[in-house]
Amino acid sequence: MNYRDEILKLKKEKNALILAHYYQIGEIQDIADYVGDSLGLSQKAAEANVDIILFAGVHFMAETAKILNPKTKVLLPDLNAGCSLADSCPYDDFVAFKNKYPDHIVISYINTSAAIKTVSDVICTSGNAVKLVNYFPKDQKIIFAPDRNLGGYVNQMTGRNMVLWEGTCEVHDILNTESILNLKEEHPKAKIVAHPECQAQVLKIADYVGSTTGLLKYTKTDDAKEYIVATETGILHQMQLDSPDKKFYVVPSDKTCACNDCPYMKLNTMEKVYLALKNETPSISLDAETIEKALVPIERMLKISKELKII
Ligand code: 13P
Ligand code: SF4
Repeated sequence: MNYRDEILKLKKEKNALILAHYYQIGEIQDIADYVGDSLGLSQKAAEANVDIILFAGVHFMAETAKILNPKTKVLLPDLNAGCSLADSCPYDDFVAFKNKYPDHIVISYINTSAAIKTVSDVICTSGNAVKLVNYFPKDQKIIFAPDRNLGGYVNQMTGRNMVLWEGTCEVHDILNTESILNLKEEHPKAKIVAHPECQAQVLKIADYVGSTTGLLKYTKTDDAKEYIVATETGILHQMQLDSPDKKFYVVPSDKTCACNDCPYMKLNTMEKVYLALKNETPSISLDAETIEKALVPIERMLKISKELKII
């Protein structure tokens, strides 16, 4: 079967919008109406006026789309496409943690469950975290969850001392300076770019730190010809499309491959996208109370991001 043609046909027939994250396989990115980072994808989901949103990403992203656009059917090709970072912050444990700091507000990274969003004051993404934290007065006490690496980076960039939840992304947290410096030895002219979910020592040696959209913009507009990329492999597809004459080397997650794949993002395949659109399942369902409560901090994020001209 030619999945590409069948998907594009179904998309038209069913008045569907395909949103894809940069960590999806290239084939999926190529059939999407919009490819972006978590912030851009949330904005597109909020604005969508269609019958179906097919979200080629992971569960928290599709859930956020459903919260922002509850009347629209939101499909996720594989419901097992979770996120280790979101999973590292269970609701009951987080509420007990939050109760220890009654005078703190909670800023949660979008990589959290809808339940965590219901007990957060504002959501952020890697694309707006620093500016969003700076939006609050310097003396505002803040809990930041769940990524301790992103939280530590934001603390450093803003001079804050936010209380951090100790969560990590299993894909970024294992990238190490040794592999990066080995690559740098092989390609001395290459610049290092890193996602802020990487550990502090990796971020310290990076020439640029940013969200997936930030990394793409940087490598497109910067004048170097080679880059060492400390994030998930999927991003190389757009990097190469945007800058066909540049060379990109992904930081390997272990010695057996030159890749660094998120096992959850990579559960989505062209066949699963096709089947999800055809059968209109699996879809995201959330109760009305969760949607109502989780919407408040997400809308606050979008409002502040517009005010600060980040989106
Ligand atoms: P971005 O918002 O930078 O695309 O990051 C999402 C993510 O899951 C990174 O691991
Ligand atoms: Fe979650 Fe990490 Fe995968 Fe991003 S790369 S979806 S943070 S597990």
